[in-house]
Amino acid sequence: MCRPGGKSAGWRDRCHHPGECAPKDDFNPLFEKLLAADGLVPGSPVYIYHVTAQFKTRADRPGNAIHCQRLPGKYGAVVSTAGGSGHEETADYLEMLLRRPGAQSAGRIACTLDDGPVPGDAELLKQANALGVTLVRAIKEKQEFPDQIQQQEKLREYFRDVIIKRKDRWDREYRYWQGKGWL
Ligand SMILES: Cc1cc2nc3c(=O)[nH]c(=O)nc-3n(C[C@H](O)[C@H](O)[C@H](O)COP(=O)(O)O)c2cc1C
Repeated sequence: MCRPGGKSAGWRDRCHHPGECAPKDDFNPLFEKLLAADGLVPGSPVYIYHVTAQFKTRADRPGNAIHCQRLPGKYGAVVSTAGGSGHEETADYLEMLLRRPGAQSAGRIACTLDDGPVPGDAELLKQANALGVTLVRAIKEKQEFPDQIQQQEKLREYFRDVIIKRKDRWDREYRYWQGKGWL
């Protein structure tokens, strides 16, 4: 239950108070690398209609990147593969992971074996190559994709309200927004 002082109060909101991700594992150094990168290429095969469990384990961690809009100015491209279906939905999810924290997506490769390609398919490799070139160009030219920017501005407003409303419980986030001059 989401009530202050509840039985699980020791754990609830722990990500927001001490200022770093509570579980001490490989994630924090990985997150630092993610923040230092210019380009991000999340990718996964479709396992039972979604990304793999291994991928999801990592994807579930950086709530802070979303709440604090940590990725503006970064670009990405996504890759998903399926034996049959689910590749577009999985690519949608992967793009959401880029865009919700503020990065822009330069595009996707979403493919299924149903379309006939075999591993090493020359056409797909050509498309993947072209996507790589598009991504690097977006980074170098600091391109703006207007529909994505517009959506992100709305999201920024939404999170601004959330951060103000939860000021006392999400002090880490509040201080971050304050430091950025976004409040
Ligand atoms: C555990 C498991 C679950 C899978 N589930 C799906 C699925 O739900 N839908 C689908 O189209 N393909 C499914 N596949 C096929 C994979 O998406 C396909 O093998 C992969 O995209 C091709 O990459 P690979 O060469 O790395 O296997 C599954 C494969 C495995 C091993």
